[in-house]
Amino acid sequence: MRFPERLSCAFLAAAAAAVLATCVLAQRAPPWTEDCRKATYPPSGPTYHGPVPGYTINLDLPPYKRWHKVITDMAPALRTIVQNVKDVVNAFFPSGKVMKMVDERLASMLGNLPWPFEEELKGIADVSQIPLGEIISFNIFYELFTVCTSIIAEDKKGHLFHARNMDFGIFLGWNKNNNTWTVTENLKLLTVNLDFQKNSQTVFKATSFAGYVGILTGLKPGMFSLTLNERFNSNGGYLGIIEWMLGRRDGMWISFLMRDVLENATSYEEAKNLLVKTKILAPVYFILGGNKSGEGCVITRDRKSTLDVYELRPQEGRWYLVETNYDRWKAPFFLDDRRKPTITCLNQTTQENISLPALYDILSTKPILNKLTVYTTLMDVSGDVFESYLRDCPDPCIGW
Ligand SMILES: *[C@@H]1O[C@H](CO)[C@@H](O)[C@H](O)[C@H]1NC(C)=O
Ligand SMILES: *[C@@H]1O[C@H](CO)[C@@H](O)[C@H](O)[C@H]1NC(C)=O
Ligand SMILES: *[C@@H]1O[C@H](CO)[C@@H](O)[C@H](O)[C@H]1NC(C)=O
Ligand SMILES: *[C@@H]1O[C@H](CO)[C@@H](O)[C@H](O)[C@H]1NC(C)=O
Ligand SMILES: *[C@@H]1O[C@H](CO)[C@@H](O)[C@H](O)[C@H]1NC(C)=O
Repeated sequence: MRFPERLSCAFLAAAAAAVLATCVLAQRAPPWTEDCRKATYPPSGPTYHGPVPGYTINLDLPPYKRWHKVITDMAPALRTIVQNVKDVVNAFFPSGKVMKMVDERLASMLGNLPWPFEEELKGIADVSQIPLGEIISFNIFYELFTVCTSIIAEDKKGHLFHARNMDFGIFLGWNKNNNTWTVTENLKLLTVNLDFQKNSQTVFKATSFAGYVGILTGLKPGMFSLTLNERFNSNGGYLGIIEWMLGRRDGMWISFLMRDVLENATSYEEAKNLLVKTKILAPVYFILGGNKSGEGCVITRDRKSTLDVYELRPQEGRWYLVETNYDRWKAPFFLDDRRKPTITCLNQTTQENISLPALYDILSTKPILNKLTVYTTLMDVSGDVFESYLRDCPDPCIGW
């Protein structure tokens, strides 16, 4: 039962090593930062890696069958990334025992995951021919290691915009040939836009990674937009997972809650209520936007309680909210301040001129754009806009 705890320690050690390695590689020479970018939209040039392929997920199908098309197309890329993760684990536990346990025992240690996720994961494992334990650990990974920037802003007319960078893959290996993170690069091959439908009607849209059944970025047309940012905390996500294995299963997996809210909530208020009140397995920030002026909040969560709900107050001049990976009442880690550059660029843009293209400019500005950035998503709930773009951060660019 001690596996996740040890894994987590291993990752902290890996983190420290990777920071040192990256400092040496990048020689810590500025410029990692730059003036707020302008006119980067529509995406083109060296910071644009390419479009995101789209798939429909039919919720009327039995869960086991829903992902067959996506996984059939993406199985080679999924195998590569699962192998990346195994390589890291095996590097820390060279006896191979840990991976053997993941393959043979993780699925039964976790017990049944809630409906419909267990069935969906089994379908994915069968189609990709990757052991279920490895598919599950791939899914757990995102619960623990996502760093991101999310912004909600409203213009002078009260029109809301929600945008995010998804940054992922730190500490999991570095390509020396072109100064990129291995997992980040491989995730670009797995990134998909998903249109979840019932009765051939869109229920919600999401940008996700093939093989992953939770949601980190999504929009329910006409109602709300939702993103999740990791919240690092000593009382971290792995404790929740240990409790889950020990049989205390009253908390929900955070990305499963995101999906449940997108699938089943029918208003901003209902979504907010669920995100504030549901017990979860890991601390997190939920960033939720609605469909009218003032409907935007950052919810700072512990596993069992909500610490803070910070809302837009346009009438008091609070026309935007920014969340990276730090509590808003605390200073960010000094090597990782994406908050101040984001706020600086929002202030420079002004509320008169805020728009999705302006948000794309901000999210294209280093270090808000960095070597971990996989994709940028732009969302407009009432305008029914949902766009995602794969990103690159050519040198000079900070590693995170
Ligand atoms: C960097 O190199 C890796 C490994 O060779 C490759 O997979 C990736 O696509 C490259 N990325 C860029 C941005 O050139
Ligand atoms: C949404 O609600 C339905 C009906 O209660 C339930 O069967 C389904 O599992 C829920 N979706 C998720 C993702 O939890
Ligand atoms: C906003 O969402 C509510 C449901 O929460 C819905 O009744 C209303 O029609 C929506 N407004 C717009 C402008 O889409
Ligand atoms: C942004 O503008 C707000 C409101 O005018 C101000 O309080 C804040 O200090 C500014 N922040 C930065 C980083 O420019
Ligand atoms: C807003 O955009 C307009 C048109 O591009 C420009 O003329 C104006 O100076 C901008 N306002 C601010 C405060 O930057």
